[in-house]
Amino acid sequence: MSPLTTSLPAGVGLGLRSQHFEQVVEGRPALPFFEALTDNYLADGGPALAWLERVRALYPLSFHGVGLSLGSSDPLDEAYLDRVASAVDRFEPSWVSDHLCWTSVDGRHLHELLPLPYTDEVATFVAERILRVQDRLKRRIGIENVSAYLEMQPSEMPEWEFLALVAERADCEILFDVNNIYVSGTNLGFDPQKYISEVPAERVVQLHLAGYSVEEDLLLDSHGSPVQDPVWKLYRNTLEKLGPKPTIIEWDKDVPDFDTLLNEAQLAQTVFDEALRAG
Ligand SMILES: [Fe+2]
Repeated sequence: MSPLTTSLPAGVGLGLRSQHFEQVVEGRPALPFFEALTDNYLADGGPALAWLERVRALYPLSFHGVGLSLGSSDPLDEAYLDRVASAVDRFEPSWVSDHLCWTSVDGRHLHELLPLPYTDEVATFVAERILRVQDRLKRRIGIENVSAYLEMQPSEMPEWEFLALVAERADCEILFDVNNIYVSGTNLGFDPQKYISEVPAERVVQLHLAGYSVEEDLLLDSHGSPVQDPVWKLYRNTLEKLGPKPTIIEWDKDVPDFDTLLNEAQLAQTVFDEALRAG
């Protein structure tokens, strides 16, 4: 398989949202790339695909999905994988990613990104499924750490060790979500700095930034607000430890106007540039 790619394209991009198709295509904002939600572009035709063609003609893309259910005990959904493969062939994204989690059981999709038990056996199981996905797509995929609100039993190792083990066994990439690490660390009581220092930097090809919300004594990975101060601090630390990795602002709920998103990207770009200068 090709070498791990960490250098293209540098800087801070945005998650592409349908509300902003026209502004992106007409306004051509100075952004290095957009991330498209793979699952929104798996139809055979229609306006969303036509818009994505136009965006793709102007920008590199990252494909980020929620439907592979890599950690499920259900068989891999071959029909879904075929549709992802077709979309990847058509749009040639710079990266393809999904989540290190399970989202379905007995064929029922739960529409939640649920954490796994962190054991050696589960790491092998998930890695084998990732290898099959990579064989089908003829390329590496990235796996993203999800937010957690409780720990699954019987975990034998911390999440960062599990993530590194799966990535090594599958020889895959990592999409490192800085907000999710802060959310999980606060909810479960681990140190996000420890996570950053233990993740294999060479496998991290992309970062995510997003907003969280507070509900009673839990942080929720709500993706519906600006990036918050502790996550900006952690982003700075992440760039220092892992190097200036291409970053996306993810805003999925209560999507604001495009200028608000551009402003968030600009804030992140400032932090990114500082990290780049610091070397
Ligand atoms: Fe994310």
